[in-house]
Amino acid sequence: MNQSNRRWLLETRPVGMIKDNDFRFVEEAVPHPAEGEFVVRVTHFSFDPTQRGWLAFDSYLPAVKLGEPVRAFAVGQVVESRHAGYPVGQLVQGGFGWQEYFLTNGMTDLGPVMPLFPGVTPEQALSVFGITGLTAWFGLTDIGQPKAGDTVLVSGAAGATGSVVVQVAKALGCKVIGIAGGAEKCAWVQNVAGADACIDYRGENVEARIKTLAPDGVNVVFENVGGEILEAALMNLALKARVVLCGGISSYNDEDPSQMHGIRPYMQLTIQRARMEGFIILDYAARFAEGVQALGKLMAEGKLTTAEDIQHGFENCPATLRRLFEGKNLGKQLLKLTDPPLPVV
Ligand SMILES: NC(=O)c1ccc[n+]([C@@H]2O[C@H](COP(=O)([O-])OP(=O)(O)OC[C@H]3O[C@@H](n4cnc5c(N)ncnc54)[C@H](OP(=O)(O)O)[C@@H]3O)[C@@H](O)[C@H]2O)c1
Repeated sequence: MNQSNRRWLLETRPVGMIKDNDFRFVEEAVPHPAEGEFVVRVTHFSFDPTQRGWLAFDSYLPAVKLGEPVRAFAVGQVVESRHAGYPVGQLVQGGFGWQEYFLTNGMTDLGPVMPLFPGVTPEQALSVFGITGLTAWFGLTDIGQPKAGDTVLVSGAAGATGSVVVQVAKALGCKVIGIAGGAEKCAWVQNVAGADACIDYRGENVEARIKTLAPDGVNVVFENVGGEILEAALMNLALKARVVLCGGISSYNDEDPSQMHGIRPYMQLTIQRARMEGFIILDYAARFAEGVQALGKLMAEGKLTTAEDIQHGFENCPATLRRLFEGKNLGKQLLKLTDPPLPVV
């Protein structure tokens, strides 16, 4: 085992795109548990666009404090325990943060430490059966409420959340139009995820292409990007459309958040008697097992496949977070430190 606990601490609140020197790399002693505590050694980190917000301001969670490890979902193995509920060797997930070892009494700032669902790999626990897969499932089915025959428009369609939305919507009998950056991602969205069409927003007029592909309008918009892409979607709503405001990644690195892109064609919601609703997946925590079961059934039926982009090296955490905003990831962005099982302390 490593003799030190390597950690990435928040040094300064980022302005614009995150930089390596927004963080401080430290090596500290590996912690040991007191009675009622245990130590998790992290094997895999999840990278999520919302981390950019956590570094900067209070939102649905308080901002990460300066000098604290960067908040992050992760999977690891219990390597030392004085807690009866968490035996050594158990694979667990939780908000372990950017550090190799996490000392805990069972609670993290992203909820309780949870054992992995049986048969689920660490990669799956952080992707299709983790926050992004569950966001796709509950955001689409609970808020978007698609019916067979509906047209569903999905932005960020080659990403962790969007790619699952595409496939769930297809499985529910919808016509699905994805939006993604670049020909390679669009080919994947159509040929692997199974969308009926995919618009390359880097090279095409998004509003005009949606009109061509969905002349009667779109019934459900699953919005991951915001800005001009959301505006293009609003210009193509069907009567009684549902716009699921999952995220708006195009503005997360704005240098001046007070100048964030607004929604100019908002009156389309009135004209089309449409509904736009946001949600935060953590509010669905009590129903996660239901979502995992539904997604597992689709996977067993061969209707759901996933892509994972796995980076390596703890020192690469900041660069890996940047990949999300550079559009470098296809599918879920992860960083793997090592494969379990690990030697115990
Ligand atoms: N509401 C919730 O509870 C919740 C939970 C999880 C995620 N989310 C949101 O869901 C969205 C997707 O998250 P994810 O974890 O699945 O990430 P992801 O889609 O796997 O990765 C981010 C992708 O966003 C695209 N992107 C980045 N900057 C962009 C820009 N300026 N304009 C357009 N596209 C841009 C890139 O794809 P391209 O190459 O296609 O541009 C990139 O690969 C985010 O907005 C996130 O905040 C919300």
